[in-house]
Amino acid sequence: MTETGAIVGAENLSLDIGGVRRLDDVSLRFEGGGVSVVMGPNGAGKTLLLRCLHGLQAPTSGRVTLDGATLTDRDRLRQAMVFQAPVLLRRSVAANVDFALKARGIHDADWRNACLARVGLLERAGDSARRLSGGQQQRLALARALATRPQVLFLDEPTASLDPASALTIETAITEIAGEGVRVILVTHDVAQARRLASDVAFFARGRLVERCDATRFFDAPHSGEAAAYLAGRYVL
Ligand SMILES: Nc1ncnc2c1ncn2[C@@H]1O[C@H](COP(=O)(O)OP(=O)(O)OP(=O)(O)O)[C@@H](O)[C@H]1O
Ligand SMILES: [Mg+2]
Repeated sequence: MTETGAIVGAENLSLDIGGVRRLDDVSLRFEGGGVSVVMGPNGAGKTLLLRCLHGLQAPTSGRVTLDGATLTDRDRLRQAMVFQAPVLLRRSVAANVDFALKARGIHDADWRNACLARVGLLERAGDSARRLSGGQQQRLALARALATRPQVLFLDEPTASLDPASALTIETAITEIAGEGVRVILVTHDVAQARRLASDVAFFARGRLVERCDATRFFDAPHSGEAAAYLAGRYVL
């Protein structure tokens, strides 16, 4: 059963870095069921948006909301993020997940193993995390995020360096997680993957929200010339 889940919002969100406007008056809400996909060319502001929504970066103006109220530090415990380039501890695969659990006062080896199994890494539990391949590290970062049972999960290009089978493992996990009622907000450049997973799309260009609609409409008939060009591989920065 698909539940609605937590509602993540941005209200007139702007972010300046070094005097340059990187996010410009962004207002949107992630609600409803399924996976929300954020797309847009390199440098559009997708990662910065996720960082703001996860409370890692304070907006210059506007606000971030969770279930309609301004996001607090405490709320952030309800959220998790998998970064484009995950940072892992110089410890075992299992210890990386245990560490995230311990920060929440939890010790549960069975649950940790279930999370590792979900991303296909249970056999590597005792190996050093730093010796994993790039794709395996991304999968471990996802397991670590899942272990905290987040209500909101931000995924920044989680399959960018994964082989097709590993990407499929992650896509299956993403679909399941969203089906369990977790608000999943996924940044991806993989149009085929976005078509498979997205229920709705937010398309950004140059820090602005250009298009916000359900996935079918976005992929079949994008309104903006920018989105149409991006999808056709013709977007020129
Ligand atoms: N810490 C920073 N200092 C200065 N500029 C930054 C910083 N972080 C991001 N930017 C700039 O803000 C813009 C948006 O960056 P962001 O990382 O959000 O892009 P993105 O949409 O995630 O791109 P990609 O698809 O390449 O990951 C870029 O032009 C980037 O150079
Ligand atoms: Mg990015």
